[in-house]
Amino acid sequence: MVVLGIESSCDETAAAVVRDGREILSSIISSQIDLHQPFGGVVPELASREHLNKIEPVVKEALRQAKITLPEINAVAVTQGPGLIGSLLVGVCYAKALAFGLGKPLIGVNHIEGHVYSVAFENPPVQYPALALIVSGGHTNLFFVPEEGKYKLVARTRDDAAGEAFDKVAKMLSLGYPGGPAVERLALGGDPQKIKFTLPKISDGRPDFSFSGLKTAVSRYVRENGIEPLRENENPSQLIKDLCAGFQATVVSSLVGTMEKLALEFHPKTLIVAGGVACNQALRQAAEKTSAKLGVSVYFPSKHLSTDNAAMIAAAGTFHLKRGEIAEKTMTADITMRLQNFELEEDKLRKAKVRYRL
Ligand code: KG4
Ligand code: ZN
Repeated sequence: MVVLGIESSCDETAAAVVRDGREILSSIISSQIDLHQPFGGVVPELASREHLNKIEPVVKEALRQAKITLPEINAVAVTQGPGLIGSLLVGVCYAKALAFGLGKPLIGVNHIEGHVYSVAFENPPVQYPALALIVSGGHTNLFFVPEEGKYKLVARTRDDAAGEAFDKVAKMLSLGYPGGPAVERLALGGDPQKIKFTLPKISDGRPDFSFSGLKTAVSRYVRENGIEPLRENENPSQLIKDLCAGFQATVVSSLVGTMEKLALEFHPKTLIVAGGVACNQALRQAAEKTSAKLGVSVYFPSKHLSTDNAAMIAAAGTFHLKRGEIAEKTMTADITMRLQNFELEEDKLRKAKVRYRL
């Protein structure tokens, strides 16, 4: 079964051809990093215009590299949401038209579920139940996955996503965009014990994440210690390196600490750590330590598959295709899509006003 995957939810235009949900025949990613760099973050209007320019050549290149012609594909899978509406619409409209023209099934994929499937290629098959930590620029969610395709959200961020916190700290210090890799690079030369930050506890006792207070604490530290943002070609001071190391260690300890705590409760057979922040070596090492301690395997995607890509969308799409979950012709982009279809969170709790204790 050969599926063409298309991803355009944020600032990467991507297409991939995947066989049987596990073998990548091609995976093309056209990144818009250079386009958004001067603004220090993604500009939605620019992103959708660039997707329009890139979608056709990216899909063609994916088919060319896979040596597959359009009539040979069995289905088209596309990211339906969540993401930026203008960006999503480009991929969804393109995929819909392609599938309709070819008379092939179309599958709408939840982007977050796509990240879960990013570990499907270079690891042994996932053993269920699993616990999946999806950490990216837009999301920080921990799912209990009792069986393939079932998700219970057991922890989520109440404010900023982990990647967003990395990006904002990098912006404060003028380290460049995206911030994650820049902060990680400087943290390598810093001492994580020098500058310590505390994490807030959430007053309703849920094991959720919160990174906005940490970002404010870093900003306060920068101000109170007279740290100047880096100028072009300036070497970062030891203080900035220590600050990056302290911040990174706090984020990692929150993510992995919560995963460990919930693993003790849910007894998973596999841990999954995916999403852009899963590129972070400190996070990988901490998750590996936890996995060894618990005697449970941990799977990561390779770096190419950690950030947004279409191979993961094709893999998730293959699963739904096998179950006959084909999109209607009326399907459209949906920025509000959630990934939760098992023991739904109580509405009351979801809407509860949150108080933090620092
Ligand atoms: O999954 P992704 O490509 O896009 C979203 O769906 O958001 O993730 C991008 C995020 C950015 O916030 C970026 O700063 C972060 O992943 N990131 C990292 C690293 N590489 C990328 N964060 C920490 N350490 C890294 N090495
Ligand atoms: Zn993503």
